[in-house]
Amino acid sequence: MQDELLRVRGLAKHFDSGTELVPVLSDIDLTLGGGGSLALMGRSGSGKSTLLNLLCGLEQPDAGVISVCGELFNGRQPRNGRGDSRRWADLRCRHIGVVFQEANLMPAMSLLDNVRLRAGLAGQDPDDCSAWLERLEIGELAGRYPDQVSGGQRQRAALAMVFAMQPALVLADEPTGSLDRHTADDVADELFRLQAKTGCALILATHDAELAARCEQRLDLAHTAPA
Ligand SMILES: Nc1ncnc2c1ncn2[C@@H]1O[C@H](COP(=O)(O)OP(=O)(O)O)[C@@H](O)[C@H]1O
Ligand SMILES: [Mg+2]
Repeated sequence: MQDELLRVRGLAKHFDSGTELVPVLSDIDLTLGGGGSLALMGRSGSGKSTLLNLLCGLEQPDAGVISVCGELFNGRQPRNGRGDSRRWADLRCRHIGVVFQEANLMPAMSLLDNVRLRAGLAGQDPDDCSAWLERLEIGELAGRYPDQVSGGQRQRAALAMVFAMQPALVLADEPTGSLDRHTADDVADELFRLQAKTGCALILATHDAELAARCEQRLDLAHTAPA
C-alpha cells in the first residue's frame, strides 16, 4: 500500500426525521492507502451512501475527523464556513471522483462532451477524452446523447468521466446496481481494470459479496450501525 490517502477516525452521523434523531453511523474508523480498495457492505439503510457522502463533503458529520488527499476536516468543530466547503468542492472537482448507481450525465450533452466537461473542470486535457471513451469500448458512441445509449453504456460513460479527471480516490455507490448481471459484471471489470491501471484508490458500496471480495479491505456497516 502506498502512502495514506484517507484516514477517518470516530466518524458519526445522525439525521433528524422531524420527530426524532435517527443515528446512522457511529465511531467509524477507516484507513486507505493510495491505490487501495475498500468494499462498504451492509443492508439497505445501513448508511453506505451516507458514509460516501461524508467522504466527499456532501454531508457533514456530527463528530469525527476525515483526512483525505492531504486535507483535514474536523467534524467536531462547527463547519468552517466557506473554507471547508471550498476545500471539499475543490477535492470533488479535482481529486475525488464519484460514480452513482445511475450515471449522472448531462442529458443535453453528448457522451464525449460530458467527459470533456468533467475532465476540463479537473484541469485535465479535454483532448484526451476520446481515448477514455475508446478505453471503455464506447468510442463509436461519442456523439450520442445519454438517452440514446443503454444503461450499461451510460455507466461506461460515467466511468470515463470519472477516470478522465485522473482522481486519487473514486467513490462508487452501487455502480452496477441498476444493471443486469452480465452487464454489471462487464462494468465492474472495467472499474477494477481502470483502478489498477491508474493507481487510484477505490471505495465501493455494494450489496454484492462477489464484488466486495475483489476489494482488498471490507467494512460491514451492519456491524457498526448504532443500536
Ligand atoms: N437526508 C436524509 N434525511 C433523513 N434521513 C436520511 C437522509 N439520508 C439518509 N437517511 C437515512 O439514513 C439511513 C441510511 O441511509 P443510506 O446511507 O442511504 O443507506 P444505504 O446507502 O446503506 O442504503 C436510512 O435510514 C435513511 O433513511
Ligand atoms: Mg445507498
